[in-house]
Amino acid sequence: MTRTALAAVHDGSGDRLDVRTIRVADPGPGEVLVRMGASGVCGSDRHVLDGEWQLPSPTVMGHEGAGVVEAVGAGVQDVAVGDHVVLSWCYPCRRCRACAQGKAWACTGTRSGECLLPDGTTRLTDEDGTTLYPYLAAGTMSEYSVVPESAAVRIPKEVPFDVASLIGCSIATGVGAVVNNARVPSGSSSVVIGCGGVGLAVVMGLALAGADPIIAVDTSDAKLASARSFGATHTVRADSDVAAQVVEITGGGADFAFEVIGRPQTIEQVPGLLATAGTGVLVGLPAEGEKASIDVLELAESGKTLIGSNYGGAVPSVDFPKLAQLYLAGRLPLDALISDRIALAEVNDAFDAMRAGERTRSVIVFD
Ligand SMILES: NC(=O)c1ccc[n+]([C@@H]2O[C@H](COP(=O)([O-])OP(=O)(O)OC[C@H]3O[C@@H](n4cnc5c(N)ncnc54)[C@H](O)[C@@H]3O)[C@@H](O)[C@H]2O)c1
Ligand SMILES: [Zn+2]
Ligand SMILES: [Zn+2]
Repeated sequence: MTRTALAAVHDGSGDRLDVRTIRVADPGPGEVLVRMGASGVCGSDRHVLDGEWQLPSPTVMGHEGAGVVEAVGAGVQDVAVGDHVVLSWCYPCRRCRACAQGKAWACTGTRSGECLLPDGTTRLTDEDGTTLYPYLAAGTMSEYSVVPESAAVRIPKEVPFDVASLIGCSIATGVGAVVNNARVPSGSSSVVIGCGGVGLAVVMGLALAGADPIIAVDTSDAKLASARSFGATHTVRADSDVAAQVVEITGGGADFAFEVIGRPQTIEQVPGLLATAGTGVLVGLPAEGEKASIDVLELAESGKTLIGSNYGGAVPSVDFPKLAQLYLAGRLPLDALISDRIALAEVNDAFDAMRAGERTRSVIVFD
């Protein structure tokens, strides 16, 4: 049986999404049909719309989602119909070396980057039968999606879908960059450059870890005010002398600096914000092929470290329930990250607002 769903589709060129009716087939063996409750609008979707990353197309966008399991294919064991799940945009194969080492985020067996299920196909088509590719094999900007079992992680039903959707990308990425990748000890001085949905999640993670001071940098005063509400102790406008202010506030440079925009210029700023032996964490993702330049002699002589952070080093089946529990315990104010709850039809406005540096996080809420 196939069902219809309203979905936001990128036809491969141009920065607009077309919201149209698509067809969603039944889940195959090891797959799960999810009725979406909510989907966040993430900066990574914007990279695709703005032509910065190439993907198979037409693409059903969205990779930050949560919903209800509507049906399961043969052999599915981890989730059952009616379960509430957060979707992972990197479904682990559970067989490769990285998976065996507990590094699901580094899985080499997944085909999520190709927007394909493990068998090399998808369950989504246009009404004329054309194959549609779910972005990162998640395709959360659709009323229904079919994902591998390992991409659907059960969470408590008390977590509302709008909050749960964010656990699937911005929160896992931002909090994970602090606790899994950088492993920030309490009392560490820290800087966050770029306070969108992911950067504010880094701020939340730093507050959770007990970092101090927590210095937030952005071009937008509204984003800096949000950063303060999530635990930033100082704010610095990006158009000022950021390095001088960070050096002054920290007394010589920060122990940790997170770049959460993906611009070569701000990535190049990172080493200059760090204290001797400090660590820079690269979370923001640039356009394909972009390069950044650093003073290698200075980096080496001062013993600084630069690390890449992918999906916050998350193991979805471990980290998503943990993050949901921290939310339920009142330790992560995830509701406050949502600035706008919108209908799917308003998705293009959400990307325009993001391009203008407005809104902390737009979340599409499905009926
Ligand atoms: N590494 C990962 O696993 C991972 C996961 C998710 C998202 N990301 C990436 O993280 C980045 C941020 O995503 P997002 O959803 O938060 O995007 P966003 O657009 O909501 O946030 C970007 C923020 O940067 C600010 N900004 C822009 N230019 C600036 C400048 N020159 N100086 C200081 N601030 C500036 C904007 O005002 C905005 O607040 C994107 O590149 C996205 O692809 C990475
Ligand atoms: Zn794997
Ligand atoms: Zn994302």
